[in-house]
Amino acid sequence: PIVGVIVVAAGSGTRLGADRPKAFVDCAGRTVLERSLDSVFGMQREAQVVVVAPADLVAEAEDIARRAAGAAESSISVVAGGDTRQQSVSNGLAALDAGIRIVLVHDAARALTPAAIFDDVVTGVAQTASGIVPGVPVQDTVKRVDDDDAVVETIDRAELRSIQTPQGFPRASLAAAYADAEIEYTDDAALFAAAGHPVSVIDGDALSFKITTPWDLRRAEGLLASAPA
Ligand code: C5P
Repeated sequence: PIVGVIVVAAGSGTRLGADRPKAFVDCAGRTVLERSLDSVFGMQREAQVVVVAPADLVAEAEDIARRAAGAAESSISVVAGGDTRQQSVSNGLAALDAGIRIVLVHDAARALTPAAIFDDVVTGVAQTASGIVPGVPVQDTVKRVDDDDAVVETIDRAELRSIQTPQGFPRASLAAAYADAEIEYTDDAALFAAAGHPVSVIDGDALSFKITTPWDLRRAEGLLASAPA
């Protein structure tokens, strides 16, 4: 394959309040990680899949990965993550085969992301050589506030997007940007853009929301109950 997908699942997920890291929490009968990998294996294109897991859960992640891969052509491996998401992605990048040209980085916590989004992102990177990120319009009015919570300004939401994953990049330039990064960025596209590369937004999907709080987990379970996936 020329496409690599790094699924970062090494966070502790303390905001979820569960007794284990959130990718390993049950979501309507299967783990969050297994549901994410189902979408990855639903891609049209063959891919090398690298799961980044907490060091003490690598063996469990390997079991989940094997189950999700089933008879899929794509290859899958598991590596240990780091203290920050950025370090975890960096560990995943180091595990990619030499032939990989396009890399997608995906949060395991976005368990219900449709498979088609992965293909859309790959197509976008292949066509533009830019970074490609899925995004959705912002529904709420967004205000900038000062330290005392006084409103400074209302930001025109028409020009804002909430950014999701998978985020896709040409492999060589992402790897170089990671090697040079000196601060922590909030997403891969910010790190990539800071290295001087263009990034474009494509249409994301409401189903790609990130499971962060107990309420998000209930929402995911409710969606699975009403439309089995
Ligand atoms: O904490 P947050 O929800 O922003 O994490 C987003 C994704 O990054 C999650 O899937 C989480 O498992 C992953 N992550 C990681 N390594 C870390 C922190 C977060 O793989 N050190």
